[in-house]
Amino acid sequence: MNEDIKKILVTKEQIQKRVQELGKQLTKDYAGKNVVMVVLLKGAAHFATDLSEAMDIPVRMEFMVVSSYGDSTQTSGCMIIRLDIQDDIAGKDVLLVDDIIDSGLTFANIKKMLLAKHPASIKTVALCDKKARRTTGFNADYSGFQIPDEFVVGYGLDYAGEYRNLPYIGILKPSVYARA
Ligand code: PRP
Repeated sequence: MNEDIKKILVTKEQIQKRVQELGKQLTKDYAGKNVVMVVLLKGAAHFATDLSEAMDIPVRMEFMVVSSYGDSTQTSGCMIIRLDIQDDIAGKDVLLVDDIIDSGLTFANIKKMLLAKHPASIKTVALCDKKARRTTGFNADYSGFQIPDEFVVGYGLDYAGEYRNLPYIGILKPSVYARA
């Protein structure tokens, strides 16, 4: 285990199993539809790749880069769109994918922006759901794991750009971010 990790919250095996379950569910729910995954980089890259492979239907991928946290552990509430989707999503069934829903601001804002492009439908899926931190009434349509109010990293989740490549989701030692 990485020395900056206090505890492993979700193992690699648990992630793989849950992603397969979500993939099966989405395959059923989106059967016969034109699915476009809108993946929020960088955090959702790992999850979206594995989830799309677990879906037994054609899936197009679009990417957005949205920053709300900077290098802090607290949400700033301010959002910067650094990269927007490239293709037209009008009439398509959009699945917005993120690594974590925390305050809910990211999903709420991006969903509103994408709705203005007239998709047939738009739903959200988050790998992790940190309900204790919700400041909006927004909930994901699908989520992988309910997680406690701890700073988690791994499988796409970062602290200051690091730890995304850990194969598990772990709680970061507070001493790591206390240094900042
Ligand atoms: C993180 C995370 C979500 C968002 C969730 O993004 O990846 O997109 O915050 O928080 P919210 O529900 O409070 O809006 P970040 O800006 O850290 O970008 P990253 O994906 O590159 O890590």
